Amino acid sequence: MPSVNDLIAHADFEDAQSVFEFGCGTGRFAARLFDQYLPPGAQYLGCDASPVMIALTQKRLAPHARQAQVVPSGVPLRFPLLDQEADRIVSVFALDLLAEADVAQFFEEAHRCLSAQGKVCLASLHRGASVPSRVVSGAWTALFNRRPALVGGCRAIDLNPFIDRHRWQVAHRRIAAPFLVASEVWVLERRTA
Ligand SMILES: C[S@@+](CC[C@H](N)C(=O)[O-])C[C@H]1O[C@@H](n2cnc3c(N)ncnc32)[C@H](O)[C@@H]1O
Repeated sequence: MPSVNDLIAHADFEDAQSVFEFGCGTGRFAARLFDQYLPPGAQYLGCDASPVMIALTQKRLAPHARQAQVVPSGVPLRFPLLDQEADRIVSVFALDLLAEADVAQFFEEAHRCLSAQGKVCLASLHRGASVPSRVVSGAWTALFNRRPALVGGCRAIDLNPFIDRHRWQVAHRRIAAPFLVASEVWVLERRTA
């Protein structure tokens, strides 16, 4: 998927030692990180709300079991990490499933848990920057408002208002809609005082 490739191209995973993924799904992204990008010895911690997804990720990451752990996400939303413990905090198409209060809490937790030189790397559905992609997104949102289950409970979300520029430096941002469904990639760094 182009947005995931773009995220990877700007995340410097080759330098990562401690990766946390929120909403790891089936673990495909994590497996790709281990197979192609992470340096030897890097640690991965994934979380997901679904026990089925957790089991799938654990199975997929079995060859990396010494470096990888997958846990259930908590309610209320809190990352299972110490302050500044992770140098990459990643979420790929999971924030678009969250209520706005949880998106805000995600950024609180990301700020608490990211190391000084770390990066937050996000991909999410977006309203779109072109007329055709906005039309598709508008139809999607209308469906979401009436029958959220039909679109898997996810909808386009504008992350921009959640990203406090006093706390975050935007290292990379791109909106793309290669198949008319727009997505947005963000790479954020902690702003130093
Ligand atoms: C659309 S899937 C994307 C999965 C994966 N990141 C990928 O790109 O293939 C969204 C994932 O977020 C998970 N999720 C939803 N709400 C969550 C929450 N509050 N905490 C953690 N994971 C959550 C879902 O269970 C699902 O696995």
